[in-house]
Amino acid sequence: MENLFDIKGRVVVMTGATGVLGSTIVKYFAAQGCKVVLLGREKSADIGNGLVAEIKAAGGEAMFLTTNVLNEDALKQNLADILKAYGTIDILLNGVGGNMGPANVGPDQTIFDMDLEATRKVFDINIIGAILPTKVFAKVMVDNKKGSIINFCSMSSFRPLTRVAGYGMAKSALASWTEWLAGELATKFGDGLRVNGIAPGFILSNQNRSLLLNPDGSLTDRSHKIIGHTPFGRFLEADELVGALHYLASDASKGVTGTILVVDGGFNSFSI
Ligand SMILES: NC(=O)c1ccc[n+]([C@@H]2O[C@H](COP(=O)([O-])OP(=O)(O)OC[C@H]3O[C@@H](n4cnc5c(N)ncnc54)[C@H](O)[C@@H]3O)[C@@H](O)[C@H]2O)c1
Repeated sequence: MENLFDIKGRVVVMTGATGVLGSTIVKYFAAQGCKVVLLGREKSADIGNGLVAEIKAAGGEAMFLTTNVLNEDALKQNLADILKAYGTIDILLNGVGGNMGPANVGPDQTIFDMDLEATRKVFDINIIGAILPTKVFAKVMVDNKKGSIINFCSMSSFRPLTRVAGYGMAKSALASWTEWLAGELATKFGDGLRVNGIAPGFILSNQNRSLLLNPDGSLTDRSHKIIGHTPFGRFLEADELVGALHYLASDASKGVTGTILVVDGGFNSFSI
């Protein structure tokens, strides 16, 4: 019987591949026999090339390319390089995203202190940073009449979290874009084109470290609130996302589009 989860030989392109989540995710897809393209910024080239070396040493297939997800020309160059090396794109993981301190409204601040320039940057990275790679790479999927696009949403896609105003607005817009694009691609190009999101719960990473950990490494009050509201009673780990991503990337989810799969230890559904 056909193994719907078999993704051996598929070409996976991931933006944000050198990040905290990306580093785990690209290694997982390579271990499934995928050809993995790691897209990262120039300044992350050492990490990207290190991951590629690790994947190759384990018998996998991968390449690292520098990019800027806000620059269409850079993405078009990436597309040319990917097609030359691997011939196609089957799966696009839009992993770039994140928050920045100045875009937050701290406990001792009010909306009158909001830094709109930083907020605009957070919109750009989380929304345009997912739209532009899709615009450039999805053409190949349309030509193939098949492809799976996965956007990295967040707990703040569903309900705003205190402090992170800009991030919440951006991630809820990304959820809306995910749903909109699912309808748009399927109606115009057929049911082989699928767009879904993943909404990770709280995982310790660079972008949230200062909100979740005190300088001495102990948990902040915010962390205690999060963990207290998480039925698992802990933060998630990056490797807890890969099964959900595999499902969305593979034919096992061939009837699924426009959904956002929550992987959060129960945070989002929990009340009291
Ligand atoms: N870590 C969490 O708890 C968590 C929770 C929910 C959602 N997410 C989302 O998951 C995704 C990955 O999160 P992470 O924790 O791995 O973040 P991260 O900051 O570790 O990784 C993001 C990567 O994107 C890259 N990047 C930023 N701007 C870029 C640009 N213009 N062009 C190319 N690359 C750029 C960064 O260099 C970084 O390597 C993000 O979208 C994030 O919002 C994370």
